[in-house]
Amino acid sequence: MKAVVTSLAWIALAATPALADEAKFGPPNATYQDECASCHLAYPAQLLSAPSWRALLAGLDRHFGTDATVDAKVMREIEAYLVRNARTPRRGEGAVLRITETRWFVREHDEVPAATWKLPAVRSKANCAACHTQAEQGDFGERSLRVPR
Ligand code: HEC
Ligand code: HEC
Repeated sequence: MKAVVTSLAWIALAATPALADEAKFGPPNATYQDECASCHLAYPAQLLSAPSWRALLAGLDRHFGTDATVDAKVMREIEAYLVRNARTPRRGEGAVLRITETRWFVREHDEVPAATWKLPAVRSKANCAACHTQAEQGDFGERSLRVPR
């Protein structure tokens, strides 16, 4: 049921031209959503480079302290999707595994006070939805941003 509601929300978003700005990302591939959104949201493919996605997927058995392994066929589909939609790496960037450690992320979030990241409602920079209230719909725009205090 939840999946149906989610896909309707996507259709509504896609049909609203005013919302078509950079901080909004289209609906993710269904397999990616199924396999990679059980512990955290399906981070938009557009927020990491292809070398980063490849490196991350190559280490799913040691994924930030957990095992997130998927079977080989599923893996090929997820990898193809992520790499196809990946962002262009900046020169000299390397294959950083975390969105939250990329230079654009650090720059974009430099006004967030250090204490805010440690609030119980936030806990981790990777907990995007703590502030980006529509993150699960791919929306990281300013209008849906609510930073806990
Ligand atoms: C069993 C739980 C689990 C599954 C399944 C899982 N992850 Fe994760 N993932 C984690 C944890 C835990 C972290 C670290 C979160 C933190 O630092 O707060 C993480 C972090 C990440 C990050 C880095 C976030 C940042 O800090 O920028 C990315 C990217 C990521 N996962 C991608 C994936 C992909 C792709 C898949 C599917 C193949 C996946 N994850 C499946 C548990 C999981
Ligand atoms: C503690 C709150 C907080 C968390 C958690 C957080 N962000 Fe943000 N994010 C912000 C703030 C504040 C801005 C800056 C908004 C501005 O200045 O326009 C921002 C900006 C952004 C932007 C640029 C938006 C635009 O309008 O161009 C993106 C994309 C983004 N964040 C993605 C993420 C992702 C992905 C995660 C999780 C991996 C995340 N954020 C976690 C607070 C947060």
